Amino acid sequence: MSLLTQSPSWRALADHREALAGTPIRELFERDTDRASRFSLDAAGLFVDYSKNPIVDDTITRLVALAREAGVDAHRDAMFAGERINRTENRAVLHVALRDRSGAPRMVDGVDVSPQIAAVLSRMRRFSGSVRSGAWTGYTGREITDIVNIGIGGSDLGPKMVCEALRPYGHERLTMHFVSNVDGADIVEALKHADPETTLFIVSSKTFTTRETLTNAHTARAWLLASGAPEEAVARHFVAVSTNTEAVSAFGIDTDNMFEFWDWVGGRYSLWSAIGLPIALMAGMDAFEQLLDGADAMDRHFADAPLERNLPVLLAMIGIWHQNFLGTTSQLIAPYDNYLHRLPAYLQQLDMESNGKSVTLDHARVDYMTGSVIWGEPGTNGQHAFFQLLHQGTAVIPADFIVCMQPHHTLNEHHDILVANCFAQSEALMNGSRSVDEPHRNFEGNRPTNTICVDTLNPASLGALIALYEHKVFVQGCVWRINSFDQWGVELGKKLAVVIEKEFALSGPIESHDGSTNQLINRFRAWRKTTRV
Ligand code: F6P
Repeated sequence: MSLLTQSPSWRALADHREALAGTPIRELFERDTDRASRFSLDAAGLFVDYSKNPIVDDTITRLVALAREAGVDAHRDAMFAGERINRTENRAVLHVALRDRSGAPRMVDGVDVSPQIAAVLSRMRRFSGSVRSGAWTGYTGREITDIVNIGIGGSDLGPKMVCEALRPYGHERLTMHFVSNVDGADIVEALKHADPETTLFIVSSKTFTTRETLTNAHTARAWLLASGAPEEAVARHFVAVSTNTEAVSAFGIDTDNMFEFWDWVGGRYSLWSAIGLPIALMAGMDAFEQLLDGADAMDRHFADAPLERNLPVLLAMIGIWHQNFLGTTSQLIAPYDNYLHRLPAYLQQLDMESNGKSVTLDHARVDYMTGSVIWGEPGTNGQHAFFQLLHQGTAVIPADFIVCMQPHHTLNEHHDILVANCFAQSEALMNGSRSVDEPHRNFEGNRPTNTICVDTLNPASLGALIALYEHKVFVQGCVWRINSFDQWGVELGKKLAVVIEKEFALSGPIESHDGSTNQLINRFRAWRKTTRV
């Protein structure tokens, strides 16, 4: 048994589970009229009601004891201090420095990185300002109309999710496109109606070695040149965001057009860096800085609030309660806001790439569950699709509902229906309804939810919301004693793809893999031989 599952606080929670078993959440409300306000919290402009969970005061006390025993506060302080907490890559984890608006020095290996951060922010301001104003033009002097971000994973999901969320703040002339997949269909569709003379490409890659991104970037470059643009046009139409100056220059992008970030910014934590350039271009640099402000407010709450009243800590520990003690294996994210439709996909990478680990920092195999499956779709669409399983299926799936009080439109009837549905779903999931005569109408209830309320979805509230989830993931990683900042699990598939790609061009049957893989490769090769022009 691991040290964690033998620890006094873990065992205290296991005992508590037995004591609480059999008491439905609805009964907890009947017993305790003050419950809703006690299990709710305002922080950094967000209001979170976590009372519809199977918890009582004692649960929180015991969960916080587990967080303390796991050293969550010390780990948090180490992260904020720029220590190399990403041990397998020997790196600091300092995305919080990117949004530290205090101007205080931020040290990494004895060097204050805040001047570098400020310098990149001011370059982003200059560049985004000139594209937005029309001063930066394409090679024929025409203003930019389309911006294509080429990146994948953290170099795509964050800026794309934020650009979608902040659409009401968008620039009239600029249309944003995001190309991530190496499937040629992605770039073909993005460029179908684009004009080479007015299209700007941002090649975003932390490493600048990612096969998908470089393949798409080469295709984009060829597309520009094939339209008759001269070689010098590349400088007007391509900028790069990366930590790898050499590779950017080898690709042929002038390093004057490169926006730098640093190895202490993890890919899935990078939207606060120059990876956020599409956000600045679309919504303006003021909006981008407000996004940083919102995240900074959540960082300060996370750093300063006592663990008992600390929102990321509470959401993380309630998640641990569900997963490690009550046996849930997945988590639904249901934004009741269409602008947040990419949030579930973004949180999938954040959570699953961070905490999908099974070895501890001490190299031991875990004997408890770590990261769970994160998935979701906006409400109310999900209600007419998969909510059936939430209400009457055999698996209990905790859900986060995210809802904005004030919409960006004036269709009040729509908004009332939307919000009513959000509140009704969490009520129905918790209370259920009993039907003795018709078992198919029976709803057991007791399905947990958190409701996260945002006043208006603006850059600051969005920044706070994203930072809330980042820190939630961090706290869970601390308790599970895993490294939330590496992603070695993605490497094997990348290596094998290189081998297989080479085999497509060989002659004679491929027999070096397992029977299934050989068969698939040989089928594709046969097809490729007869159909390729
Ligand atoms: O393969 C996984 C990964 O490394 C992610 O962690 C990262 O966000 C993504 O690929 C893209 O990496 P890069 O920004 O270096 O192209």
